[in-house]
Amino acid sequence: MTATPDTVSPVAGKTIVLGVCGGIAAYKAVEVCRRLVDAGAHVVPVMTKGAEHFIGRTTLSALASEPVQSSLWDEESPIPHTRLGQSADLVLVAPATARLLGAYAHGLSTDLLTNVLIATRAPVMVCPAMHTEMWEHPSVQDNIALLRRRGVHVVEPESGRLAGGDSGKGRLAGPDSIVTAVESVLGPRDLEGRHVVVTAGGTREPIDAVRVIANRSSGKQGYAVAAEAVRRGARVTLVTTVELPLPHGVQPVCVETAAQMQRALDGLKDSADVIVMAAAVADFRPVACAPGKIKKNDGVPEVHLEPTPDILAGLGAAKRPGQILVGFAAETADLVANAQSKLERKNLDLIVANDVSQPGVGFQHDTNAVTFLRPGEALESHPLSDKRDVARALLDIVVGLLG
Ligand code: CTP
Repeated sequence: MTATPDTVSPVAGKTIVLGVCGGIAAYKAVEVCRRLVDAGAHVVPVMTKGAEHFIGRTTLSALASEPVQSSLWDEESPIPHTRLGQSADLVLVAPATARLLGAYAHGLSTDLLTNVLIATRAPVMVCPAMHTEMWEHPSVQDNIALLRRRGVHVVEPESGRLAGGDSGKGRLAGPDSIVTAVESVLGPRDLEGRHVVVTAGGTREPIDAVRVIANRSSGKQGYAVAAEAVRRGARVTLVTTVELPLPHGVQPVCVETAAQMQRALDGLKDSADVIVMAAAVADFRPVACAPGKIKKNDGVPEVHLEPTPDILAGLGAAKRPGQILVGFAAETADLVANAQSKLERKNLDLIVANDVSQPGVGFQHDTNAVTFLRPGEALESHPLSDKRDVARALLDIVVGLLG
């Protein structure tokens, strides 16, 4: 059995110029900056004059890897824009205002940030944030379309509460989405062109109109696999029973029961290069669902159960040559023997076994300790680590299997 060290974030060691424009969402750039620095990136902050109305230079300087720069003329370097543009592995603008998008789209270099954008050959990512009326204005939409055509990565704003109490589309994407998008641009693109289908969460099997048989699965491991697969360039479909924040770029399919999950997978399996069954599918379901609510005064109901279809075994039996099938085995005893038997019985290429009786492992937690089993290969065991690290290690194996 070999222990594998934790994997590192794809942003580690990379230089990211973080441009911050003048909008109320500028305060969220501070969190984005902190997360990128925590992940090992060298973050060089550039603020516009407008941004300084919303957050202090000291705040960003304290959290970034270098002090804030904002002027073409006052810096030590005589040509700060070319120095910054050339040293960057990525220029990220969050938030990007309508003014910045317009200037960048039309080559207007009016301040340090717009000069850096035009002077760089590194990939550029913009994260717009503005009021709905501005976001929907044809000039802004045309500028976004122009930038996209030039290969600029756009992290779309979200819908939600805006400054001044309004509500609508235009709110800066959350720090999680922005960091995931950055990792996807800077990380290995070894799943480019692949369709990865992931399932997540526990199924819910209805007893009556209000009651279900459920399980403790939170869906976090499946979501982490989906986010990592997007980062690595895959087209990702996530068949999910839970509503966690959706990783940037993931296509969701919402289901509740084992039967619905099976139907969803029936429609996806032919185009899938990889299927990762991280969902905890109920093994039994009520034979019938009472149409209304069963009333307490009617006495204790008898619930007759029947087995659900084993979705993964069905996928294993119909597996195409070259398709990679990954299962999970949540166990409380005889971890390796149980997982080995499922690996063989369900015709899998990989099974991820975890002992959910151990502290911090599996259901509900942000962490997991897993053992990977493959046909004819030595076991690979990972100590307790973040579910994102488990996802990376899992997809490293999948990439190897895809060849
Ligand atoms: N699985 C499935 N359909 C089911 C039950 C499980 O597709 N009806 C999948 C799970 O998504 C998981 C793998 O099979 O990837 C193993 O699930 P698990 O519950 O650990 O194993 P079971 O085969 O259900 O056996 P047992 O519950 O007896 O451990």
